[in-house]
Amino acid sequence: MRLHINIDHVATVRQARRTDEPDPVRAAVLAELGGADGITVHLREDRRHIQDRDVRLLMQTVRTAVNLEIAAAPDMVAIACELKPMAVTLVPERREEITTEGGLDLTDGATRDRIGAAVARLRAERIRVALFVSADEASVRGAAATGADAVELHTGKWAGVWRGAHIVDAAGTTRERAALAAGADLARANGLDVHAGHGLTYENVTPVAAIPAIEELNIGHAVISRAVLVGMERAVADMKAIIRRARGVTSGSSA
Ligand code: PXP
Repeated sequence: MRLHINIDHVATVRQARRTDEPDPVRAAVLAELGGADGITVHLREDRRHIQDRDVRLLMQTVRTAVNLEIAAAPDMVAIACELKPMAVTLVPERREEITTEGGLDLTDGATRDRIGAAVARLRAERIRVALFVSADEASVRGAAATGADAVELHTGKWAGVWRGAHIVDAAGTTRERAALAAGADLARANGLDVHAGHGLTYENVTPVAAIPAIEELNIGHAVISRAVLVGMERAVADMKAIIRRARGVTSGSSA
């Protein structure tokens, strides 16, 4: 299983002062040294954290892979086509949200056509395209219909029910994990690679990492939060170790 580290919130700290530190490009190097298999950044239309300069420099410095998250807007797709990251993940974006709240709504034909056009444009540049969707059947089938290479299953609901698991919601965790596993299997059956992410933490990641059909996790806030306290390399290595245990990997073999 690949672990991609989302470094947006290194840039959030920088933008709090509109200065030049901490630099997400330096953070990416340390994340790679800690064992990250890829670096994810979300270039939001309002540029609240990651800047165009960051993406350009990451393209020159990251040795693993850059996964660029963007809205499916023509100007954002044009930036991706120019920079040519290895992968693009298309996400819904609302300016007033604190973070990406839901998956793409692919049940509506007009949206599906708009996303499909973005997918075609990106794939023509040999960029792998993932769509950030809920794990339900309609979303996964809708994603397959666009011609995308992969889905990234939204684990926000899982993270939400997990928080309450020790108090009341054991049934919720069983239900949400089963929904993720079913969505992942359906995606694979439809020829899609399967990623997952959003709200994953050191405490709640194990059951998701153990779902066999999921091959990539994108984790940001929890790792950056730990990195503030213990340093980026150790924060990434700690997460990687949990994921390897979840996959039943012993040291020396590959996840
Ligand atoms: N995947 C996607 C598509 C996201 O938008 C985000 C948040 O930017 C993440 C993963 C990472 O979520 P978190 O920061 O909660 O780990």
